[in-house]
Amino acid sequence: MRILVTGGAGFIGSNLIRELQNKYPDAEIVAVDNFSSGCFQNLIDFKGEFIPGDISKKEFWDYMAEKYTFDVVFHQGAITDTTVTDQKLMTEVNTLGFKYLLDIALKRWNAKVIYASSAAVYGNCPAPMKEDGCLKPENVYGFSKLMMDRLAQKYLKLYPDAYIVGLRYFNVYGPGESCKGKFASMVYQLAVKMMRGEKPRLFKWGEQKRDFIYVKDVIKANLLAMEKEVRGIFNVGTGKARSFNELVEILNAVLGTSLETEYFDNPYSFYQNYTEADLTKSKTELGFSPSWSLEEGVKDYVENFLKTDR
Ligand SMILES: NC(=O)c1ccc[n+]([C@@H]2O[C@H](COP(=O)([O-])OP(=O)(O)OC[C@H]3O[C@@H](n4cnc5c(N)ncnc54)[C@H](O)[C@@H]3O)[C@@H](O)[C@H]2O)c1
Repeated sequence: MRILVTGGAGFIGSNLIRELQNKYPDAEIVAVDNFSSGCFQNLIDFKGEFIPGDISKKEFWDYMAEKYTFDVVFHQGAITDTTVTDQKLMTEVNTLGFKYLLDIALKRWNAKVIYASSAAVYGNCPAPMKEDGCLKPENVYGFSKLMMDRLAQKYLKLYPDAYIVGLRYFNVYGPGESCKGKFASMVYQLAVKMMRGEKPRLFKWGEQKRDFIYVKDVIKANLLAMEKEVRGIFNVGTGKARSFNELVEILNAVLGTSLETEYFDNPYSFYQNYTEADLTKSKTELGFSPSWSLEEGVKDYVENFLKTDR
C-alpha cells in the first residue's frame, strides 16, 4: 500500500505516520511538508521518504502526479494559525491546495482521500454541532475549511465511486504539538505553565467550553476512514464539552499541584464559546467512538510525554 501524508511534520500528521508505520509496516509512506508550522523533530523516527513541498502550488502537484502514485492520501497540511487574517493566503493554501490534490488523487491515482476539516466551520452555532446543521465560521481559517468541505461534496457528486472522507476535528491535544508554539492546544499551554509552578491564566471566567479530543482518538478516526468503505464528512470529537476551569482542575490533579487561576479579558472579537460534537453520524457510519476521556487523555499526555520531554 502506498500512502501520502501531507503536513507530515505537523502535530497530527506525525502521529498518524507513527501509527501507520506500526500498523502497516510494509506500507510505503511519503510525507510532504514545508515546515511552516511543523518541525523535523516530529519525524525523526520516520522510515519513509520526505519531500519538502508547498501544497498550495500547482507545480508541486504536477510533479507529484508525474513521479508518484498512491492508494491513500491523508491531507493534514494547512495553515493552522487561526489568527491569520490574510484571506487570499489562507484560501490559497487550504482550499486551492486541496483542489489540486483532489484533481490528481481522483483522476490520476484513483486514491482514497482523507482530509482534515475542522469544528471551526461551526463557529458559534448551537451545540451539539451536526455535520449537516448550522455552519457559520467566525474566521477565514474556518471559512477555508468550509470551502474544502463544499469542494469534497461537489467532487463526491462528480465522481460517485470515489472515496473522500472529511474529518471535522474538534480541539485536539497530545504529543507532537510543541512546535506549534502559541497555537498548540490549551491543554499543552496550561500544562507547560503549571509544570513550571506558574499560575494558569484563562479568559474571564473560564466557563467557555470545548470538546477536547486526544490525538490518539483522532488517529483512530483516520484509520477507520481508511479501512472502511465510507465517504462524506464526519465529526471527530468526544461529544462532551468541558470548561477551561475543569481542565485546570484535571491538570492540578495530575500534576499534584493546587495552583489558582488568574482571569483576564478576552481580546478576541471572534471566539468560539462552546463547541461540542454530535457523534451520531460518526458512530453509525464510520464506527467511531472516542476511547479517551479528558481525565485519561491529559494524564497519559502529561505523564508519558510532557514529563519525559517527548
Ligand atoms: N489541532 C487541532 O486542534 C485541529 C483542529 C481542527 C482541525 N485541524 C486540522 O488538522 C490538520 C493538522 O493540524 P495540526 O494540529 O497537526 O497542525 P500543524 O500546524 O502541526 O500541521 C500542519 C502542517 O502543515 C504544514 N503546512 C502548512 N502549510 C503548508 C504548505 N503550504 N505546504 C506544505 N505543508 C504545509 C505545516 O508545516 C505543518 O507541519 C490541519 O489541516 C488542521 O487545520 C487541527
